[in-house]
Amino acid sequence: MRNIYSNIFKVNNKNLSKAVNRLKKKQLIGVPTETVYGLAGNAYSEESVRKIYLLKKRPSKNPLIIHYLNLKQLKNDVELNSDFYKLYKKFCPGPITFVLKKKKNSLLPSIATANLKTVAVRVPRNKIVRKILKNLNFPLAIPSANKSTHVSPVSANDVVCEFGSSLKFILNGGSCIIGIESTVVDLTSKAKILRPGLIDPSDISKVLNKKITIYKGSKVIKAPGMLKKHYSPGIPIKLNQKKAKNNEAFIVFGKKYKKAKNIFNLSSKSNLNVAARNLYKILRLIKKKNYKMICVSPIPQTGIGLAINDRLTRAAK
Ligand code: TXA
Ligand code: MG
Repeated sequence: MRNIYSNIFKVNNKNLSKAVNRLKKKQLIGVPTETVYGLAGNAYSEESVRKIYLLKKRPSKNPLIIHYLNLKQLKNDVELNSDFYKLYKKFCPGPITFVLKKKKNSLLPSIATANLKTVAVRVPRNKIVRKILKNLNFPLAIPSANKSTHVSPVSANDVVCEFGSSLKFILNGGSCIIGIESTVVDLTSKAKILRPGLIDPSDISKVLNKKITIYKGSKVIKAPGMLKKHYSPGIPIKLNQKKAKNNEAFIVFGKKYKKAKNIFNLSSKSNLNVAARNLYKILRLIKKKNYKMICVSPIPQTGIGLAINDRLTRAAK
């Protein structure tokens, strides 16, 4: 049976081949990944990539992440180096994106990479998106399936909330297990993290056996995902709050908070992975409930907590 939304499709062989056919016809589809839901299109087709920018209302200077099935496919478009091989071996397929130099003979249209000489590449772990990639002879450009600056979607319904009937086909893979976007690491020179995620700086340092810097931003925008107003629920946010008024939504972390209508606990058991999984879901829920102010309790600045604080800080700008 189809879902209540006519553009959400359950995962079975018939719908997977529908998904593949749509992509071959240069149409866009919504797909689950282990991090967040994505808006997928043929990365080698300028027409498909244009459709992505248009639907997301994404500024053309913000490049896309190109998703591949494996190393063999990815090699066609980027120059690989030893840091890459080490990280790939340890973490892929998985929630990590590498910024690498674009190959001269790459088939990627320049619009996909915002005219940069670099490309962000990722090999996802989610079985559904992998099944699709397996049946294509091109990689997929897959940004998060939200309108530019909005919070990323973590369920098929969230994708419908973003695009309504303008996106005709979304595969329903349930809730995303990680719930926050991939770690983006720039390997074009000295390794640095452009966007924190589940794989944290110490995980990367251990593998590369050297200290890794976290990019803090400068006048030159390296990852436009680092732009100020991003991941925004469209409601003012105050961070590091000890309490909130009754008419304010209070996002908290840990067991010391009582249950109340306006209290939204990211993880009452103080589990940061659970908190990451709940973050965007809770931001959407608060928006739906029409709160006009969000307060957030302190969240530990460790592991995926770095990524949670990063997204909340951007949302608060
Ligand atoms: O987890 C994820 O990465 C999700 C899922 C769907 O795979 N995708 C995702 O894509 O978050 P998007 O487009 O929402 O975010 C891509 C980020 C942006 O911050 C973009 O600026 C950065 O990657 N990026 C892309 N290409 C880049 C490049 N060549 N150099 C630096 N940053 C780049
Ligand atoms: Mg995004």
